[in-house]
Amino acid sequence: MNYRHAFHAGNFADVFKHAILTGLIESLKAKQTPFRYLDTHAGAGRYDLHGEHARKTREHQAGVQRLLDAVRLPAPLHIYLNLVRALNSGNAAQDIAVYPGSPLIASLLMRESDRATLCELQADETAALKKLFAGDARIAVHQRDGYAAMDALLPPPERRGLVLIDPPFEAQEAEFDTIEAALAKALVRWPIGMYAIWYPIKLRQQTAAFLRSFARRKIPKVLCAELLLHPDNSALRLNGCGMVIVNPPWKFDRQLEELLPVLREHLAQGRFGEQRVRWLTGE
Ligand SMILES: C[S@@+](CC[C@H](N)C(=O)[O-])C[C@H]1O[C@@H](n2cnc3c(N)ncnc32)[C@H](O)[C@@H]1O
Repeated sequence: MNYRHAFHAGNFADVFKHAILTGLIESLKAKQTPFRYLDTHAGAGRYDLHGEHARKTREHQAGVQRLLDAVRLPAPLHIYLNLVRALNSGNAAQDIAVYPGSPLIASLLMRESDRATLCELQADETAALKKLFAGDARIAVHQRDGYAAMDALLPPPERRGLVLIDPPFEAQEAEFDTIEAALAKALVRWPIGMYAIWYPIKLRQQTAAFLRSFARRKIPKVLCAELLLHPDNSALRLNGCGMVIVNPPWKFDRQLEELLPVLREHLAQGRFGEQRVRWLTGE
């Protein structure tokens, strides 16, 4: 495995994913009962944007950096950006040295009674996670396959919560088949769980079969959000990305409809830009 998220931390896809993640976790907090957050592909948890990897690509400059001065933002985006700002509060204005990955964002939003399980395959990323969350009794870190963890750990003892599935897609289209199979098994064990699946958009036909699979498998309540910064006709670059949400919170489609145009406006890389929110099944 070659993928290192440090090259991409804070890019437009991270902003999209992490703003939606923030909205989902905030919705879970609407009820007092504790929830479980399972991050199947956790990464390192925290990224140094001044570090060697991020300095090579500078992807965050067309991502989170663009939003730092923005005002009047939808609530999830505002909350997420406040977390990023708080982690960088000692820096000069506009300088973000630290970018939070999904585990750190979740942990900063979670309450004392909520729990997180973080899975990561690479040894050095897992070691970074363990160091970051040492002493935080709410969080368990496992070096293991995230898909196998879904099979072993669901349903969680809390019986409510969120699974984030955010693989590196090194297997390209085959990754969609792996996700489909893992999700089908997980839904048998835990049909009421919330599942959020991030996916890259390069060529439209690569995602079409995956998106159709939810109706084919009769998975009842599935929402899909997509943000495209380039037309989806090039296999070579990340033209956009999407998030499929199984069992989304009530009225989450409206939150996404408010969020996505704002993301498009701030993250545009040229004239082109498109966003879409639709129900793949149910409503
Ligand atoms: C896109 S990154 C995760 C980023 C993270 N979710 C975030 O938003 O900050 C994908 C991670 O999955 C890890 N990985 C790849 N295959 C895996 C698997 N089968 N199980 C668990 N982790 C895996 C990679 O090492 C990489 O760190």
